[in-house]
Amino acid sequence: MTGQSPDPEAGTGTDPKGGGDAAAGGTGDGAVLIEMRNINVAFGGVHAVQDVTVDLHAGEVVGLVGGNGAGKSTLMRALSGAHPPDSGEILVDGNVATITNPRDAKALGIETIYQTLALADNVDAAANVFLGRELTTRTGSLDDSAMESATRKVLRRLNPNFKNFKSAVKSLSGGQRQAVAIGRAVHFNARILIMDEPTAALGPAETTQVRNLIKQLKSEGIGIFLISHDIHDVFDLSDRISVMYHGRIVGTVKQTDITTDDVLGMIILGKKPEDVTQKELEELHA
Ligand SMILES: Nc1ncnc2c1ncn2[C@@H]1O[C@H](COP(=O)(O)OP(=O)(O)OP(=O)(O)O)[C@@H](O)[C@H]1O
Ligand SMILES: [Mg+2]
Repeated sequence: MTGQSPDPEAGTGTDPKGGGDAAAGGTGDGAVLIEMRNINVAFGGVHAVQDVTVDLHAGEVVGLVGGNGAGKSTLMRALSGAHPPDSGEILVDGNVATITNPRDAKALGIETIYQTLALADNVDAAANVFLGRELTTRTGSLDDSAMESATRKVLRRLNPNFKNFKSAVKSLSGGQRQAVAIGRAVHFNARILIMDEPTAALGPAETTQVRNLIKQLKSEGIGIFLISHDIHDVFDLSDRISVMYHGRIVGTVKQTDITTDDVLGMIILGKKPEDVTQKELEELHA
């Protein structure tokens, strides 16, 4: 809270920021990249995702938080094509999209960075960036120099300190491995990244590297859905935070409008701060 009283002039003059209604849900001027509307996913009797609506703008990080089993990964698997929703709509760039498998999602610029990173450990960064999509020369042999120079270009952009281009990725740090995985997505024109617990397995220095990567991606206009149990990560990196509880959305809040305690209350109690009673608040802090 800033403690400022409302601006008496608000709404009477022209908007000094020049922002329009287009970005009403978001925080910046970025165009709407993704709208997921009324998404439902059930596994037998388990309604993992219930009537969930979220959106994502260009250059924005939306933190997706909630307790274990709240439905975060299932919601993102609906977007990545790994497990399409039972009902609901997904719009990409304002158009209704049909995403029935990961290939559909990739074709729309939606890439997922898995916690396991899905890297080939025994080969170098370039081989990983182009894994399964290798560049070849006119004679049909692997074009190693083209792949290496493209890899240098994309990784320099993401992390200027990245130097280990000749090493097998198994010898790289967690943060550098993350850069390789993200480099792969970005080289192939990802505009929407889904990151599920990107820093869970990393130490402090590596976590800093990944945070810097996320900030760099943001500055390039990429939109990111960030799932994390680390409330500090979420708070430092997110423009907005969507909280899930037992498959439903509790609320989506702007990071600047809320405290970490408010978000923890939403995660644990499944209610917006204004709906939490004094008794519940005391129990939460007990
Ligand atoms: N493939 C599946 N088959 C059956 N049930 C599933 C499957 N995937 C998820 N679920 C169930 O759906 C619910 C939501 O799970 P999900 O993995 O989306 O939660 P989450 O918010 O990502 O949790 P966590 O923070 O533990 O990763 C849980 O009850 C889970 O057991
Ligand atoms: Mg999960």
